[in-house]
Amino acid sequence: MIDLATKSALVTGSGRGIGREIARKLAQAGADVVISDIDLTTAQATAGEIASEFGHRTLALAADVSKEGDVKKMFEEALSAFSKIDVLVNNAGITRDGLIMRMKEEDWDLVLSINLKSAFLCCREAARPMMKAKGGKIINIASVVGLMGNAGQVNYSASKAGMIGLTKTLAREFATRSINVNAIAPGFIRTAMTDKLTDEEKAKLSGQIPMAKLGEPNDVANAALFLGSSLSDYITGQVITVDGGLVM
Ligand SMILES: NC(=O)c1ccc[n+]([C@@H]2O[C@H](COP(=O)([O-])OP(=O)(O)OC[C@H]3O[C@@H](n4cnc5c(N)ncnc54)[C@H](O)[C@@H]3O)[C@@H](O)[C@H]2O)c1
Repeated sequence: MIDLATKSALVTGSGRGIGREIARKLAQAGADVVISDIDLTTAQATAGEIASEFGHRTLALAADVSKEGDVKKMFEEALSAFSKIDVLVNNAGITRDGLIMRMKEEDWDLVLSINLKSAFLCCREAARPMMKAKGGKIINIASVVGLMGNAGQVNYSASKAGMIGLTKTLAREFATRSINVNAIAPGFIRTAMTDKLTDEEKAKLSGQIPMAKLGEPNDVANAALFLGSSLSDYITGQVITVDGGLVM
């Protein structure tokens, strides 16, 4: 059984969706969890539910992880509450889809900032406390489209491919410090992000997935739990696809 008692975790964008499920899963395994989101209301609701369900400490924080000031403050508050961060999950992300000829510069900048720059800012803040603690787990939520591309998502797929490059580089920088850095590349997972798709689009997508169905946030959270635990101690710089076989 995976036991994260005595560990503390910070999950960005965890007010809802995949991040929320990852935070729940880590808390279920015994961790204290920082629920951070740009939307404080959802962060507080999730933190309250997790605390009452699993009885561990939770801290709800409002942070726009694309902003350096917010990220620094988030880490200060998290460290002052829990004194260490053993597991960092860079999960916050958005889409602003469109074909390149119609894509506005602001949609490129926003997606790159929220999906990729955020991971740089959070990893930079996590480095010192993790080195001091002589270990840590960083889990970056990428996407299969960062591996295979997707028409209409040039900004999003570039941000997720960038996340994979960031993961591999930091894995090398931190390899001798017992800090593992890995990425999860989810396929199409049932959340608010994919709710925007029409039933026809969902059916078309499912047709391309060998397992012939969309995944659930829990499927991604199970991979995060593994990567956040000592079971993954000798694994770093990897991308685990959680996609029903879409990319293989
Ligand atoms: N749903 C999928 O099919 C899918 C597939 C591959 C990858 N992903 C990735 O998984 C992650 C979670 O996606 P989801 O499907 O749960 O989406 P979601 O929209 O349900 O949740 C995203 C969360 O991030 C928060 N957020 C947005 N901007 C933020 C910011 N600037 N700072 C802090 N928090 C912010 C939102 O408030 C929300 O709670 C994202 O990185 C996404 O790209 C999702």
